[in-house]
Amino acid sequence: MSAPSFHHRYEPGTDSGRAPLLLLHGTGGDENDLLPLGRTLAPGAALLSPRGPVLENGMPRFFRRLAEGVFDEADVRRRADELAAFVGQARAAYGLGAPIAVGFSNGANIAAAVLMRHPEALAGAVLLRAMVPLADTLAARLPGTPVLILSGAQDPIVPAANAGRLAADLAGAGARVEHQTLPAGHGLTQMDVGLAKAWLDRL
Ligand code: MLT
Repeated sequence: MSAPSFHHRYEPGTDSGRAPLLLLHGTGGDENDLLPLGRTLAPGAALLSPRGPVLENGMPRFFRRLAEGVFDEADVRRRADELAAFVGQARAAYGLGAPIAVGFSNGANIAAAVLMRHPEALAGAVLLRAMVPLADTLAARLPGTPVLILSGAQDPIVPAANAGRLAADLAGAGARVEHQTLPAGHGLTQMDVGLAKAWLDRL
């Protein structure tokens, strides 16, 4: 399959010891949104930040949804495949190793779908306010892939049971999952930043 090229920003790394980060924004964001977060989480890492190719009332997203929390799963599959192909293209173009995805909300959901369908595409993932993107049982094997899931106890979009199921599915496929639920809503907090940075530093 030839991949559509994603509109994206790329910042070369200055620390070759750091895995690159694949930054995936939330609904209504763009390729600029998470660059400051990426610089904070992993100083010196190369940053690859694509823009979601789907528009919902003018707001970029990474896949189509039918309603809030109800996904067009055929589109999730297609877009996850295209994003994995883009990662491969970008790795070849920029000379990068496999990236660690850092995704927020819709970006976390597409990162989870990429993990499920293309386990080799990512070296790990930080999933911020993620939910289960695909109802299919997970066929992929993720042997030891490190995954951090940070959920919000008062998140009105992601039910706790759904985030728990995502963590269990990924762990069941072999991923090394750490799942924490913070006293927060859907938005990110300083606690997310501190925990994600510490987790990345431990890899
Ligand atoms: C999604 O559509 O991926 C989730 O509902 C999160 C969001 O973007 O609001």
